Amino acid sequence: MDLGPLRKGYRGDEEAFEERHLSSRHPIEQFAAWFTEAARCPAVGEANAMCLATCSGDGRPSARMVLLKGFGCDGFRFFTNYESRKGRELDANPFASVVFYWEPLHRQVRIEGSVKRLSEEESEQYFHSRPKGSQIGAVVSRQSTVIPDREYLRKKNAELEEQYRDTAVPKPSYWGGYILQPEVMEFWQGQTNRLHDRIVFRRPRDGAAPLGQMAHQALLYSQRALGRPHERLSFRNKKNPEDQQKGRL
Ligand SMILES: Cc1cc2nc3c(=O)[nH]c(=O)nc-3n(C[C@H](O)[C@H](O)[C@H](O)COP(=O)(O)O)c2cc1C
Repeated sequence: MDLGPLRKGYRGDEEAFEERHLSSRHPIEQFAAWFTEAARCPAVGEANAMCLATCSGDGRPSARMVLLKGFGCDGFRFFTNYESRKGRELDANPFASVVFYWEPLHRQVRIEGSVKRLSEEESEQYFHSRPKGSQIGAVVSRQSTVIPDREYLRKKNAELEEQYRDTAVPKPSYWGGYILQPEVMEFWQGQTNRLHDRIVFRRPRDGAAPLGQMAHQALLYSQRALGRPHERLSFRNKKNPEDQQKGRL
């Protein structure tokens, strides 16, 4: 099927997303502003749904949707089965990237960084805050493993519902949370004419090489951001004159 003609108009130029349109120069606060708008937008189904990409030790990527369960200056939290494919990949290669796409707002946010397991205490706390059905679901489902059929899951679910009818469901040791500590956060605003805007916050690495050809440094971000300075970067492709118009990549 040819999907070439499938094209949608975004917003007008007068609604450009430039530095002066940022709600905050703190990337987490900027994320909070966009997230709040997405969560309030009736046309956005699940504002906290994000695509999580992980990578195996030998560099093979995989991606799937997960739900963001909290964020703050320390990072972005999600919960899963540590023995799942993503869990095994994060054990081997503790870096990840997540993408949010809020289609009705024509917005995308990309976040990249290192990932750590949350403490057992925090995972335990979150596990027991979930509805009992979800707790049982986490025990039933050994993610990324092959099961004989759906009946097997139904039966196991019913057995566990019976077993824990009057008692708390213990959190399985293989289930818990992660925190993604951002090194790069990119805010993308779709515009008409495909002249989309991107504003990138990047945490400078110690001893990192100077900025490459594709990037220019817009301003140095203040110390407040995530405990270390962030640089604000705007990307422009200098090779292609047509692409020199702001933000077209
Ligand atoms: C909208 C949506 C939200 C999801 N949220 C989660 C989640 O928070 N945690 C989780 O482990 N799986 C979640 N899943 C299921 C995952 O996409 C995936 O099927 C599962 O975690 C196994 O992935 P893996 O085998 O790549 O590790 C979600 C799926 C969808 C479509």
